[in-house]
Amino acid sequence: MSRDAGELVQQLVREDIRRAPAYHVQDSRGLVRLDQMESPYGWTPELREALFARIAAVEINRYPDPRACATQRQIREAFGIPGRWSLMLGNGSDELIQILMMAIAAPGGSVLAPGPTFVMFRNIAGWLGLPYHEVPLDPGFELDLAAMSSAIDTHRPRLVFLACPNNPTGNLFDKTSLEGVLEAARDAVVVVDEAYWAFSSRDHLDWLDRYPNLLIMRTLSKLGLAGIRLGFLIGHPAWIDQLDKLRLPYNIGVLHQAAAEVALQHFDVLRGQTRQITAERARLATRLAADARLHLWPGEANFLLVRVLNGRARDVHAGMIRRGVLVKCLDGGHSRVAGCLRLGVGTVAENALMLEALDGALAECSG
Ligand SMILES: Cc1ncc(COP(=O)(O)O)c(C=O)c1O
Repeated sequence: MSRDAGELVQQLVREDIRRAPAYHVQDSRGLVRLDQMESPYGWTPELREALFARIAAVEINRYPDPRACATQRQIREAFGIPGRWSLMLGNGSDELIQILMMAIAAPGGSVLAPGPTFVMFRNIAGWLGLPYHEVPLDPGFELDLAAMSSAIDTHRPRLVFLACPNNPTGNLFDKTSLEGVLEAARDAVVVVDEAYWAFSSRDHLDWLDRYPNLLIMRTLSKLGLAGIRLGFLIGHPAWIDQLDKLRLPYNIGVLHQAAAEVALQHFDVLRGQTRQITAERARLATRLAADARLHLWPGEANFLLVRVLNGRARDVHAGMIRRGVLVKCLDGGHSRVAGCLRLGVGTVAENALMLEALDGALAECSG
């Protein structure tokens, strides 16, 4: 007698996968959506028109350019990436993280990152059976250089991730500590993840000349293009040539290549939007810093991290949802961000609604 699907799953799917929770994205229908660090700005009418014209000309019956050469050229131009570095495009940075980990996934290979940080580093390492070593950030969310150096010495990781600015803490690590980690990790490949590059006061592209073990990862997701899923890795051709062998052919579809090209032809529009977000972040920070019910950390990304000082972050989060605004509640996740909310920066109008909802929810939860 044939066994049912449930029995076969029990027998065949890895136990750690069966036990793992599915990636959960909270339903945001009907709410002001400020929980996923997206840009609040969609296509402008000018961009929409250019996109429709471009999409109409796409050869939908053909496989895409496997290396997305035209898209690569435009990324180079928009981001000022020198010709001596190679590029690899991924279906979001997430795919690039997976490729990097596949490349080092052999006995003895492990991954190291400070924590808390972007959850996909740990998740993908787990799926690939790679040991993951987390080194706690210090209480101010800075890199603990002594602890990082000692963990690197002990575990000898092949891959180190440093998100700069970091998610969910939002800060940009101190430059000297970052350099210290790169020195300590000379025998590993170090990926500086600059997903929030557009909102940050410092980037590390020219560090590629100083560190042969460094790769820089960026994404179009935070520039108003989260829907097309396009991340890219920048580095020495010797690295990219090897990693590119692990990329699935045709990983960036024709529609996504076309949409990225149209958007990048109007990069000044996207940069204008990110500058607006950065200005709004400063305005929000002033308001939040003046609220005695909250502790605010300095942020260099398109979100701000606050701690709800009365310990009722979950109630405040629920109260904000009741008032129509969705932010991210970090309470119950990493212990370093217990009691914290991650507040995405939206449009001027969305931010006003967010502040109002936060104020109302805090007032409801006092006493
Ligand atoms: C630090 C960091 N890296 C990478 C990503 C993922 O980017 P992508 O949308 O390109 O997969 C995120 C998304 O939130 C992030 O916070």
